[in-house]
Amino acid sequence: MTLLAGVIGDPIAHSLSPRLHGHWLSRYRISGHYVPLRVTSEDLGTVLGLLPKMGFRGINVTIPHKEAVFTLADIRTERAEAVQAANTLTFADGKLHADNTDGLGLLASLQAGASDWSQNRPALVLGAGGAARGIVAALLHAGVPEVTVANRTVERAAVLQSQFGPKVAAVPLSGIGELLSRQGLVVNTTSLGMQGQPALDMDLADLPKDAVVTDIVYAPLETPLLRQAKSLGLRTVDGLGMLLHQAAPGFAQWFGQRPEVDDALRKAVLAQ
Ligand code: ATR
Repeated sequence: MTLLAGVIGDPIAHSLSPRLHGHWLSRYRISGHYVPLRVTSEDLGTVLGLLPKMGFRGINVTIPHKEAVFTLADIRTERAEAVQAANTLTFADGKLHADNTDGLGLLASLQAGASDWSQNRPALVLGAGGAARGIVAALLHAGVPEVTVANRTVERAAVLQSQFGPKVAAVPLSGIGELLSRQGLVVNTTSLGMQGQPALDMDLADLPKDAVVTDIVYAPLETPLLRQAKSLGLRTVDGLGMLLHQAAPGFAQWFGQRPEVDDALRKAVLAQ
């Protein structure tokens, strides 16, 4: 039997997920296909009803559907509940199961790229959108004692603070100067630094020398923020690792093989 899975979003043409899953399918000699599907918000409910009937085992979900599919799901994991959004759906027993693996992806990527990053020190999360929510939840789950969310619109950071409780603080993006010297980790979850976007204007010089800086942006791989961190001698973890690691649980569920994230996968995904 040919196994089917895919990714839905709008737009979807830029998605690296088909290449990523395609690499794993051929590496593990699995008879299956992973396809990109452009689905509008209007058609989302209909499509989710039809995909299992067409033989799909599950799908990844990207912008703008992550919140909507969470609402439409029958069963939700705890980590999807924490984020109120899902990126991984499985069709099983006539039910729609929703999971969110973005936070797990970040933690696994940090583990792989800076294995001794300290979970016992405060962390600074830049941005307060959907991606930030998943990352704050994962950091708290990992034992980080204090997470500061810095956002241009401080009110959005305050929403995360009220959702996650007293371990989370909210500050304006312009007000992080004096906080830097206590941070063990900085995570950029904004779109700043992405190709075609302005760079994130932030001076990292006051970070402790053993702090780790990571970015969820992976195009370019070395964002201006990571370049600055490197030039200060700080350790950096690029955004591609998170993308690769967040994909693994879905692949394992749909295709029955726990996949490996390694250099060969990175090369395959980055190849033109
Ligand atoms: P996602 O769900 O992918 O995280 P989002 O909800 O649009 O996307 O969030 C994008 C984040 O990038 C937000 O924190 C946003 O800040 P605001 O909440 O103030 O909009 C941040 N962001 C985007 N463009 C920015 C810019 N030019 N300067 C500062 N922050 C920016």
